[in-house]
Amino acid sequence: MDRLAGRTETRPLNLRGEIVYAQSVMMPTQESAKTGLPYDRVFNFSAGPGTLPVEVLEEARDDLLNYKGKGKSVMEMSHRASEYNEIHEESVDNLRKLMEAPDDWAVLFLQGGASLQNALVPLNLKKEEKIPDYLDTGFWGHKSIKDAKKLGPLHIAYSSEETGFDRAPKNDDPQFSEDPSYIYFTSNETVGGVDYLRDPDFESDALVVCDASSNILSRKFDLSRYDVIFAGAQKNQGPAGVATVLISPRALHVARGQELPQMLSWSDAQKANSIHNTPPCFSIYMCGLYYKWLMKNGGIEWIEPINERKANYLYELIDNSGGFYTGHAVVENRSRMNVAFRLQGEELEKTFLEEAEKQGMQTLKGHRSVGGIRASMYNAFPEEGATALAGFMKEFMQRHG
Ligand SMILES: Cc1ncc(COP(=O)(O)O)c(C=O)c1O
Repeated sequence: MDRLAGRTETRPLNLRGEIVYAQSVMMPTQESAKTGLPYDRVFNFSAGPGTLPVEVLEEARDDLLNYKGKGKSVMEMSHRASEYNEIHEESVDNLRKLMEAPDDWAVLFLQGGASLQNALVPLNLKKEEKIPDYLDTGFWGHKSIKDAKKLGPLHIAYSSEETGFDRAPKNDDPQFSEDPSYIYFTSNETVGGVDYLRDPDFESDALVVCDASSNILSRKFDLSRYDVIFAGAQKNQGPAGVATVLISPRALHVARGQELPQMLSWSDAQKANSIHNTPPCFSIYMCGLYYKWLMKNGGIEWIEPINERKANYLYELIDNSGGFYTGHAVVENRSRMNVAFRLQGEELEKTFLEEAEKQGMQTLKGHRSVGGIRASMYNAFPEEGATALAGFMKEFMQRHG
């Protein structure tokens, strides 16, 4: 039925055919009374998708209907058109710069999130006579092992399961097999808030593969210690819908030797600069805006100490709470991105979450698998949010301690 038939109403209709009574264009001056953030925004402690920079969202908003005078949005552009190609190339280049990836490394933007990369690792790095070594430090490492096992045997070189996934190994803890096809680890376990806080030094010639979904771009990564770094974008890069994958020349060489369907092949993706099919253009464009935001402000050198400060506000408070709050990770592996802690009892945790929410602090509930509280503070999460949470925690402890 034609929704305009017989229409006498002249006011605009929205996509559902409802009358739009007022254009609700929010101004940045509409500061939140609770958080002081522009556009009445909350302190969003979500573990992912996580907080994005306001400047990035503003630019995306301004570009939404007509991208830089091209007469259409990025979502409506052909992925083969030169106007999209510029966006794509710039996003790849800027990620390469931020990660200091040499020219002979592949920098890919792929669909299927970090979870698909978990499956692509064993497929692309398969060596018939060898098996891979996996390091298990928590929920995501565990999950990747489960998936990889479906594709072939593997060796678990380290697991912190016995201590409740509260730590990462020291350099000589893992028991590597003699000649593994690759070594796989998760640089930051998002659920438990467990971070290696260093580049790996496995003293092995094997390829080193890292799931860096929740700490990529939060600190410097020395790429000479890695062969594959992959990450879902939705924490420290942009919206969901794309995963970034950096691959060393020697890992690419192995990947080139595999016979894989095109969408599973890193080699095919690299040859086509990630445009082997329609890429998630809008997500890649958003990542591009994010990279520009990070570079404009001073890059990793700028954000790393800020991230350290944000986490320390909370860890210091936890350490000085006399056991009112207890952190999950051991001190030397405390994540700067995901601060996971508990209070004494689920009832108290429920009250904590309810009261925090009333003060504009959202998504602080721990992962469904472990409970408790988790404050995720990726690069774009404002420092004021960390001090506000620390202040709230102190005051909450005084009332309930
Ligand atoms: C460390 C880690 N790896 C993998 C994933 C899965 O990512 P995706 O949802 O993009 O598949 C997550 C998501 O939270 C994660 O934190």
